[in-house]
Amino acid sequence: MIALTVAQIAEIVGGRLADISPEQAARTVVTGTVEFDSRRIAPGGLFLALPGARADGHDHAAAAVAAGAAAVLAARPVGVPAIVVSPADSAPDSRSGALEHDDAAGSGAAVLAALAKLAAAVSAVLVAKGLTIVGITGSSGKTSTKDLIAAVLAPLGEVVAPPGSFNNELGHPWTVLRADENTDYLVLELSARHRGNIAELAAIAPPQVAVVLNVGTAHLGEFGSREAIAETKAELAQAVPESGVVVLNVDDPAVAAMAGKTAARVVRVSRAAPADVWAGPVALDELARPRFTLHSGQGESQVRLGVSGDHQVGNALCAAAVALECGATPQQVTDALAGAGPISRHRMQVSTRADGVTVIDDSYNANPDSMRAALQALAWIARGEDPGAEVRRSWAVLGEMAELGEDAISEHDRIGRLAVRLDVSRLIVVGVGRSMGAMLHGAVMEGSWGAEATAVQDVDAALALLRSELRPGDVVLVKASNSAGLTALAEALTSEDPGDRR
Ligand SMILES: Nc1ncnc2c1ncn2[C@@H]1O[C@H](COP(=O)(O)OP(=O)(O)OP(=O)(O)O)[C@@H](O)[C@H]1O
Ligand SMILES: [Mg+2]
Repeated sequence: MIALTVAQIAEIVGGRLADISPEQAARTVVTGTVEFDSRRIAPGGLFLALPGARADGHDHAAAAVAAGAAAVLAARPVGVPAIVVSPADSAPDSRSGALEHDDAAGSGAAVLAALAKLAAAVSAVLVAKGLTIVGITGSSGKTSTKDLIAAVLAPLGEVVAPPGSFNNELGHPWTVLRADENTDYLVLELSARHRGNIAELAAIAPPQVAVVLNVGTAHLGEFGSREAIAETKAELAQAVPESGVVVLNVDDPAVAAMAGKTAARVVRVSRAAPADVWAGPVALDELARPRFTLHSGQGESQVRLGVSGDHQVGNALCAAAVALECGATPQQVTDALAGAGPISRHRMQVSTRADGVTVIDDSYNANPDSMRAALQALAWIARGEDPGAEVRRSWAVLGEMAELGEDAISEHDRIGRLAVRLDVSRLIVVGVGRSMGAMLHGAVMEGSWGAEATAVQDVDAALALLRSELRPGDVVLVKASNSAGLTALAEALTSEDPGDRR
């Protein structure tokens, strides 16, 4: 973060000082980062006391100051120097999705509202000094694209991008506050649970360049309709000023329609047809890494991606468009894309064990679109590039796709059917419940025989089955929403040394 005194921060967030005098507050400079985990506090940092479901950050305020925090941003006095904001100061309809306790929600919302104000003030200062903010939204692929954008912008200057999926009312402003005077590009992922969320996040750090990837059905249960999701994603395009650029993946008609909703210049990307930035025919290598010709107004170049899955083509085109707009050459773009492997864990992480078993760890999250994309990548890797080669046995170890609302049953049924249509050798449905039952049922109805589709109770049972039945050369996809807990299964499978068991 840029250096600010405790007094300046108190003024920005409209908080009052506690356990620190005004004179001291005017002398105490926050030079470190803002942290909500007291174990991460470095000297000069600002500790954010957030009440959570399991722990209350206020209980860790003293430890944070002992570890060097210059002050605490809190909802009540904590016995150490603090800026205190009260629930009454924050908007009454502030949402606190990151917080699960009703009684904590009010003070949590107050601290988050203060964080948003601080991030907005800091980003305004930095934008005035030349910072470029890039915002990304979409139903699937925000984190994957964020990582690609960070990679393609790296040759152009200092980039700050969040780790993993920091895209909500906590992660977003937290990331904004990682930027300082040395930062040239701030790359932000924006997600929504309700209408207005993206507009709120974009207001904290108005992007000069925005990317809209797709409008799918993620979190359909909360939005009610795909139209509502599309309107929410369009809030990002609307937040870009006239002087800015909106990159739209026009292969998705709902995204293409956003061209009419922004005052900014629109850059259209497509993998299907000529556009401002587009891909020639796409081929995949043996690990389903795409290669294609990148076309743009600046000429052509050959791209080989370091990440797996055909769905990464659209993500890479959006990243390329951003970099070209920021002044990169096509060669810089293709070099950076080639060198960009998976950064955020459990997203299409493909690795091959010593026994030749290839594990596709896509266990971090799942919705119908990303399930289809991952199953296609599994089928491709099993089949391979060489039509004459032997087809490898493929396993889809799938858990629940959360938050699908009333579509949950039909969407799980469809995925079960797709696994059979793609000729996946073994489908392991992990977990009980109606959705997983529907997935199994879908596979059986589509013509799956005997053990080809199996349901197991939990992750342990899935692991036991895989341990006894996996053979060298098999390909295994592990995928579910994070709540299904399949990341542990993917980690166990990936790190497994089959020699141990012999
Ligand atoms: N363009 C895409 N279309 C469909 N699936 C995609 C696309 N890009 C990535 N995926 C897949 O979607 C899943 C989630 O990817 P990623 O984490 O990048 O998305 P996200 O939008 O950041 O998700 P979240 O909303 O959880 O933050 C992964 O399984 C990934 O392989
Ligand atoms: Mg994400």
